[in-house]
Amino acid sequence: MIIAVDGPVAAGKGTLARRLAAHYGLAYLDTGALYRAVGLALLDAGRSADDSAAALAAARALDPARLDDPRLREERVGEAASRVAAMQPVRDALLEFQRDVAARPPGAVLDGRDIATVVCPDAEVKLFVTASAEARARRRHAELTARGETADLDEVLADLQRRDARDQARDAAPLRPAADASLLDTTNLDIEAAFRAALSLTEGAC
Ligand code: CDP
Repeated sequence: MIIAVDGPVAAGKGTLARRLAAHYGLAYLDTGALYRAVGLALLDAGRSADDSAAALAAARALDPARLDDPRLREERVGEAASRVAAMQPVRDALLEFQRDVAARPPGAVLDGRDIATVVCPDAEVKLFVTASAEARARRRHAELTARGETADLDEVLADLQRRDARDQARDAAPLRPAADASLLDTTNLDIEAAFRAALSLTEGAC
């Protein structure tokens, strides 16, 4: 059983995917954390996030057991992640790990940008989670503030729109809904309502 949850920045994919995994007893993989870890490795090494040779080396050396660094959630790391994620060789280096997690019984919920289109095109359930840019910026701003990062709402909105534009325009696995994905707009839904909506979209298949 594989559930693919894709969507733009801060659409609420992670929260939904985690709750679906707990509900159905499936594993959960935040694939964005893989790209963030590659981005963070470059920042830590003082390299540019556009350094494709260093990015590929970092992707190949990635230890997926070490994705719990709280720094992965920093805004600058999200930006670096989106830069390295546009590089096809980096994506190729991370693909097998993602497919292995998905293939392990009883299955998994994976969230990201290209789960339904590239990583698991045969997923039983494909959700594309969206919300207005303003709603997403408010949520990300609240998250950052709660973690003690100082953040300006207008800057968060601008960062998010720039990152979405890059993710959508790239040649390598661009962000877009799969033809057979169910769209879930969470602009006016709280977490509980979004979870119930996601459950009703998955119920037939699970
Ligand atoms: O949590 P947030 O929505 O800010 O982003 P994320 O899911 O942690 O992903 C960070 C970045 O990694 C995205 O902006 C994408 O560029 C990239 N990504 C990707 O290309 N493919 C995925 N399956 C997951 C993330």
